[in-house]
Amino acid sequence: MSLEQEIEKRRTFGIISHPDAGKTTLTEKLLLFGGAIQKAGAVKSSKIKDHARSDWMEIEKQRGISVATSVMGFNYKDVKINLLDTPGHQDFAEDTYRTLTAVDSVILVIDCVKGVEIQTEKLMEVCRMRNTPVICFINKLDREGRDPFELLDEVEEKLNIKVRPLSWPISMGKTFKGVYNLYEKSLTLFTPSKTKVEEDRINVSDIQDPQLDSYVGETNARQLRADVELIEGVYPDFDPTEYLAGKVAPVFFGSAVNNFGVKELLDTFIRIAPPPIPRETTLRIVEPEENKFSGFIFKIHANMDPKHRNRIAFLRICSGKFARGSNYYHVRQEKSLRFSNATAFMAQDRETVDEAWPGDIVGIFDTGNLKIGDTLTEGEKILYTGIPSFSPEIFKEVVNMDAMKTKQLEKGLLQLMEEGVAQLFTYELGKKKVVGVVGALQFEVIQFRLKNEYNATAQFVPQNIYKACWISSHDPKKLAEFIDSKQRHIARDKDDKLVFMAESRAWLQMVQDNFPDIQFHFTSEFKD
Ligand code: G4P
Repeated sequence: MSLEQEIEKRRTFGIISHPDAGKTTLTEKLLLFGGAIQKAGAVKSSKIKDHARSDWMEIEKQRGISVATSVMGFNYKDVKINLLDTPGHQDFAEDTYRTLTAVDSVILVIDCVKGVEIQTEKLMEVCRMRNTPVICFINKLDREGRDPFELLDEVEEKLNIKVRPLSWPISMGKTFKGVYNLYEKSLTLFTPSKTKVEEDRINVSDIQDPQLDSYVGETNARQLRADVELIEGVYPDFDPTEYLAGKVAPVFFGSAVNNFGVKELLDTFIRIAPPPIPRETTLRIVEPEENKFSGFIFKIHANMDPKHRNRIAFLRICSGKFARGSNYYHVRQEKSLRFSNATAFMAQDRETVDEAWPGDIVGIFDTGNLKIGDTLTEGEKILYTGIPSFSPEIFKEVVNMDAMKTKQLEKGLLQLMEEGVAQLFTYELGKKKVVGVVGALQFEVIQFRLKNEYNATAQFVPQNIYKACWISSHDPKKLAEFIDSKQRHIARDKDDKLVFMAESRAWLQMVQDNFPDIQFHFTSEFKD
């Protein structure tokens, strides 16, 4: 098969949702359709439930499970689908943000009872930054949920994206009858079943057809006709190019646990979701069809065995063909590396991969050469962009509790930061080290892993910091003046970039007003 054909048949995506909306259930059903698993219940939930806080075994288990289910590749109707798992637990949100840099589109799951929840808003912000195409799946229609029109309005308002329903529910909860596919003009009737794989579609090309009444009842048929009229009047026709530009999200309704509406979603997904897309680098846009291989690392996972420090780096292939055993150029380190042990992810198995194509993810065993954001090429000195760090939410100073183990602590911290577990900020004055995380659970993970894997003892002291803002200015003199006047609050991130550690929202606002020539950025990647 030619490179173009390999690219055309690939779809690389992630599922995002607020915890408990049904991401794991939907993943499992998609794998069922792909034949990657044989029965429901085979996908272990990769989430840490709230009650499992401080349960180390649970954290260790999570690390193990999430390698296995980090990337699930499967084939469906001649399409090679790569599904990238995103941790549902909000304390691991940073990991999810980065995974979103490696996908070409996302499916967003919303619980019809709860509507748009906070975690979804944050994840969608990341999608909006990159104009990632989004398909919405409104789940749990077998429950008494909110009015579908109201849900759609909420999606538009809170997630800042236009929507276009492609299917429409007929009633809900106990009286849920099924969905009407507005695109194909077919009706799928609902029968609760956790094991059913096929759905029966009935062709109802004319919604005025009296037959409809006999399928769903007179009242429901009347309601559906009114709803469809309203939809056609309010929402413009679905335009796939707008979807691909990340401007409009098609919406489906269903019930993942009952395997209802999932096949419909998958069939539409493979038809409209984008194959691997061109990607930006520091120098130019790279097209997937280019013959020369290139890709970037978006995730690093420590090995489970603390005695061996090798790690698995996840490489997203962006162009050309990746061939095992070849030498590739590591742009940051300016050296050539040989990759003889790349692994492909097929469903839950890992197998050695001889070649991989744009859109594919391969796992590389690494002993410390690679870090998140690294670019690999056949020699060209380009760096993939769009893998920024976001300002953490909670900050604590690292205090070494065992002076004999200073080196171990430093090494441990460095490696954990390279894995992207948290972000380290080193103050210019006094070299104080402050770790920033998105969720408090991360501190416990870090402390535990420092002890367990590096034999270092650290304590964390809370800091009064609201946000870490990366700073820049068109005027180097003004920047120097600013640094001078705010010395106590200036730090450097892992890449030595300048960061202003703001103590409160009000104070940050005041400083921004007082220093109009300084730009404050909430992500590490910005255009001046
Ligand atoms: P998550 O990965 O997004 O966190 O959600 P997950 O799939 O684990 O689903 C959360 C809960 O919602 C699960 O129940 C799951 O069975 C249920 N669920 C998923 N889809 C549907 C649906 O269409 N209808 C209804 N009524 N429930 C649904 P649980 O009790 O937390 O777990 P379990 O014991 O059922 O596995």
